Amino acid sequence: MASPVLAVRELRKTFTLHTIDGRRVSSLHGVDLDVHAGEHVALAGASGAGKSSLLRCVYRTYLADSGSVRMTTSGEPIELTGLPDRAMARLRGREIGYVSQFLAAPPRTGPLETVAATARRRGLDREQARDAAAAALHRLNVDESLWDVDCGVLSGGERQRVNLAAGTVRPPRLLLLDEPVSALDPENREAALSLVDSLVEQNVAVLAVFHDAEVMRRLATRVVLLADGTVSRDGAPADVLGEAA
Ligand SMILES: Nc1ncnc2c1ncn2[C@@H]1O[C@H](COP(=O)(O)OP(=O)(O)OP(=O)(O)O)[C@@H](O)[C@H]1O
Ligand SMILES: [Mg+2]
Repeated sequence: MASPVLAVRELRKTFTLHTIDGRRVSSLHGVDLDVHAGEHVALAGASGAGKSSLLRCVYRTYLADSGSVRMTTSGEPIELTGLPDRAMARLRGREIGYVSQFLAAPPRTGPLETVAATARRRGLDREQARDAAAAALHRLNVDESLWDVDCGVLSGGERQRVNLAAGTVRPPRLLLLDEPVSALDPENREAALSLVDSLVEQNVAVLAVFHDAEVMRRLATRVVLLADGTVSRDGAPADVLGEAA
């Protein structure tokens, strides 16, 4: 079998709360996880189990205390935890999409520019990038009249769709999703979920948090259940989540 796109081993992360007498909060203690190309791994677990922390340690918005996060792109696996910042930034731009509930668009840029800039980083030329961005925004029903409006004034749901368009345009090798449809109405949610599903068919490796078990059953090829910062179960959706009621 080909090596996984993402391999996480013995990952640990603890937070020190400096404002509260330096108390330490353990978030991840020894997480092991693989995601292969064309696999959609759903991260399940109660609130506070460590799902977002894990995604952030992979994307490296959090620095892990110890353990390994390896990504395989075209050659040998790359250890992300020790990668210099610039190399990490390059790798993120080219190979990783990260979509959370929030859009961090630079000020005074509109959806089309934001999404096209991501497509450019993933290797398209200017014109291709605009076309790909337009297609992604259409697919997620972002009204064309909003394409050049400052992202800062968009509604929560509009912003989330722009964020998804950027995360998925010119699909990255690895897609990290943290509750990416939480602000969407049923119709837009359906469009977003079908987009995510189509990417798995295009061989993207997806690691995702969806609170809705029905969504996990439908989209995930495997479910990893986190409890208290470790993997408590890892298997087929029906085995880990139980059959639908
Ligand atoms: N920046 C931070 N500073 C301090 N503690 C943090 C930080 N980020 C996460 N934690 C702690 O780590 C633990 C795991 O949090 P995390 O956000 O990963 O959970 P989660 O599984 O995503 O939960 P939810 O389903 O509510 O989003 C929690 O106890 C949380 O308080
Ligand atoms: Mg979370």
